[in-house]
Amino acid sequence: MKYTAIAPSNIAFIKYWGKKDEILRLPQNGSISMNLSNLLTKTTVEFNDKLTKDKVLFNGKEDNQVLLRVSGHLDRVRELAKKTTRAKVAIENNFPVATGLSASASVFASLSLAATKSIGLSLSEKELSILARQGSGSACRSIPDGIVEWLDGDTSSTSYSVSLYPPSYWEIYDVVVVVSKNKKEVGSTEGQKLVDTSPFFQTRLLGMKKKIEECKQALKIKDFTRLGVLSEAEALEMHAVMLTSHPSLIYWTAESLTVMKFVKRLRTDGLEAYFTINTGQDVHILVEKKNLNKLTKKLKELDVIRDIIINKPAKGAHLIV
Ligand code: PMV
Repeated sequence: MKYTAIAPSNIAFIKYWGKKDEILRLPQNGSISMNLSNLLTKTTVEFNDKLTKDKVLFNGKEDNQVLLRVSGHLDRVRELAKKTTRAKVAIENNFPVATGLSASASVFASLSLAATKSIGLSLSEKELSILARQGSGSACRSIPDGIVEWLDGDTSSTSYSVSLYPPSYWEIYDVVVVVSKNKKEVGSTEGQKLVDTSPFFQTRLLGMKKKIEECKQALKIKDFTRLGVLSEAEALEMHAVMLTSHPSLIYWTAESLTVMKFVKRLRTDGLEAYFTINTGQDVHILVEKKNLNKLTKKLKELDVIRDIIINKPAKGAHLIV
């Protein structure tokens, strides 16, 4: 049977960077994120006994690297279903890939849902999150709805994500600023292998539990200032680890820095907004609804911006007919 699923990418307020198990993708720490309403991947999967190998199209094109990773994930699905059938997969992304917008999260979340349904499995949300995690860590946070916590866990069955709040809980926005469509040089799977070479990584780990509690508290009382201050500092801390790894990982470009400094300047001028940034040059800006229009108008002053994508909290992976 053919099934199509849609999943959102997500932006982490408290981030995951570093694994305690490479193969199972068990993270060194828990994390908290928000699913993004306008960064979406649509994936169609059809297992078919007539196929002799998996066939994967990414945005209409064949790509060997994508095929390897997707086929590896389909092997996990085949193992769960105790079948050997090959599949035809079509993945469509509505946003740039490898620029820091976490396409692997939405790709592996939508693939996990469409593939398990197509092979005849009906997994619970927890089981799906565990499966998606093995394709790409952050994908496990794109399975449940809204604002999500990834419980780090020590084993595969205890490392999965749960919804903390539904999408309608709080109308906060993540304005994604696309500064370039150039692809990053080091992917996050490779980059993360370097964490232990940073002198700051162990120090970072010591503070993670407290940060997660602080973030949950800010979310509970809808304290945007607390959430924003925490998220911006957290992004800079994660990048401090990246910058001080050997070899160093420099994901920012001059344009990213221009946007980051612009956000700080806006705050000084009374517009409350905070940046966060992942593995790539594009910048995420967190803002409350009351300041959204002012922010998007202000961003027009910047000539480094190629596109902006406005997101609010979204539901997780779901099937479409
Ligand atoms: O899931 P991966 O391997 O693409 O790792 C992504 C990690 C960050 O995006 C940098 C942080 C996060 O928690 O999303």
